[in-house]
Amino acid sequence: MEVNRPHYDRLAPPPEKSQHAGGEDSGFCCFVFTLLKIAASIFLILFIIAIILWFVVNPKDVKVNVEDAALTQFNLAGNNLLHYNLTVAVRLRNPNEKLGVYYDSVEARAVYNGSRFGSTNLPVFFQGHVNTTILRPAFQGSGFPLGEAAAETFEMEKATGIYNIDVQLRVKIRIKAGFLKIPAKKEFDCWLKAPVPAGEVSSPAPANLIPRTECAADYLWYMFWKYWRKD
Ligand SMILES: *[C@@H]1O[C@H](CO)[C@@H](O)[C@H](O)[C@H]1NC(C)=O
Ligand SMILES: *[C@@H]1O[C@H](CO)[C@@H](O)[C@H](O)[C@H]1NC(C)=O
Ligand SMILES: *[C@@H]1O[C@H](CO)[C@@H](O)[C@H](O)[C@H]1NC(C)=O
Repeated sequence: MEVNRPHYDRLAPPPEKSQHAGGEDSGFCCFVFTLLKIAASIFLILFIIAIILWFVVNPKDVKVNVEDAALTQFNLAGNNLLHYNLTVAVRLRNPNEKLGVYYDSVEARAVYNGSRFGSTNLPVFFQGHVNTTILRPAFQGSGFPLGEAAAETFEMEKATGIYNIDVQLRVKIRIKAGFLKIPAKKEFDCWLKAPVPAGEVSSPAPANLIPRTECAADYLWYMFWKYWRKD
């Protein structure tokens, strides 16, 4: 104890200085400043690690296209009531070599000229790296009420022989990167050019085929950022 005393004296701050500068306040301020510096360093290190991982993992978007589709019924009866039967084969390809994708919610929608006439939920699934999945949503129903404007478009497109139908795929996914799972919500728009079904027009389209269609991707939100868009 005797030996230690001079050491304590040297460490003790001059009493008048600590009183004039408001010792407790400035000590607290320095403590906060140090904490901020540590937090900033940790943030910077995590940011650099994230960038390096991003380049190592090289994430690519899931590619979606319509392989095949059949429109066997699409006609208006009575008060603009739409009768429809549309089956679609949608191909989803995960091109990533290191990432898997959990599809936690898969909803397919069929939209004609702004009117969503069909909607169906598909089973959830996990898609491994470099893998392909074919989904087969089917829309079948009678009596969907089309609005005046859509009904007008219907008559116009029927005359040209091709209906423009938007098949949308809305998915909630989690991208699996090792133990990390990054959530995202996406929408894919597939604009089908579907010939008027045989039997519903006097001169059906030469080939009653719906061509292979690429689907455009749109993030609704990704991680913590929301991407707002018009519906
Ligand atoms: C709908 O069309 C498919 C062929 O694409 C056919 O197999 C099915 O029987 C049709 N459903 C109805 C209710 O007409
Ligand atoms: C409906 O079709 C008409 C004619 O093609 C087009 O002008 C209009 O923008 C379409 N509306 C929607 C909501 O897609
Ligand atoms: C792709 O998925 C199929 C069916 O789930 C599975 O058998 C196959 O092993 C997967 N391939 C890869 C590379 O993950």
